[in-house]
Amino acid sequence: MVKDLSVTLSGVRLDNPVIPASGTFGFGQEFTPYYDINILGSLSFKGTTREARFGNPTPRIAECPAGMLNSVGLQNPGVEHVLQDELPRLRSIFHKPIIANISGFSVEDYVYAVERLTEAEQVAILEINISCPNVHGGGMAFGTSCEAAAAITAAVKKVATKPVYIKLSPNVTDIVSIARACEDAGADGLSLINTLLGMRIDLQRRRPVLANVMGGYSGPGVFPVAVRMVYQVTGAVKIPVIGMGGVTTARDVIEMMMAGARAVQVGAANLVNPTACRDIIEALPGEMEKLHIDRLSDIQRI
Ligand code: SIN
Repeated sequence: MVKDLSVTLSGVRLDNPVIPASGTFGFGQEFTPYYDINILGSLSFKGTTREARFGNPTPRIAECPAGMLNSVGLQNPGVEHVLQDELPRLRSIFHKPIIANISGFSVEDYVYAVERLTEAEQVAILEINISCPNVHGGGMAFGTSCEAAAAITAAVKKVATKPVYIKLSPNVTDIVSIARACEDAGADGLSLINTLLGMRIDLQRRRPVLANVMGGYSGPGVFPVAVRMVYQVTGAVKIPVIGMGGVTTARDVIEMMMAGARAVQVGAANLVNPTACRDIIEALPGEMEKLHIDRLSDIQRI
């Protein structure tokens, strides 16, 4: 029997649940030499801010067992450039709904970027990143308090014309209370988890490997933490959740969905293997067959 991989997020139908995670896929261009990216369910583009950002000083990547640290610092060309240059170029290579990942340093920043991106035709979902661990005075600062998370959610909901998904940080004591605060403030969905705050030390230099000292850990090492948090959050909220964190295989996608995720983002795996998302999508029917699953959307939270 032909397997049905389709899923629906807030009324947006995706051919399959596999979405490259923001910051690991740029605006799609770098991956087109490797495969036709139209196989993807969607893609979440690089976190975009009101103004262009150069990002953090280098080194800003450190390899780790079972993953990597990044401290990119939201390098991006700014919302106007994204609208004028990146999105038209993306539209010429990718013909499906996209997710706009948006960051900021104040409520006004988020509102401005949402007002600009919500009208972009191809943008189907606005993913509001309140969980970047690599910047000061913004990013994760909004995602570690219920009040701040709710304030951002309510403010962007007032101007958004597309579904709003809030991207949550794992660097909190109680992710469920943050998730509930976002739901109560009107979020249409949630994305989780962003990276875990980590650090490496260069033994010869006796200095941190990263110029910014700390960074976000991602990769297969975080997968069990991500599954646990997705399971906890989906047990507590009614809105859909996009699960992510160390997803590397088709079986990981199915495991995330059994934890309650409606769709799944793939991040660090794209940096190890540029065809990771395609490989996962192509492997899904075979894994579904082994598990007697005909439709991915039939998967129930365990
Ligand atoms: C970064 O650009 O520093 C990473 C973005 C994030 O972790 O949210």
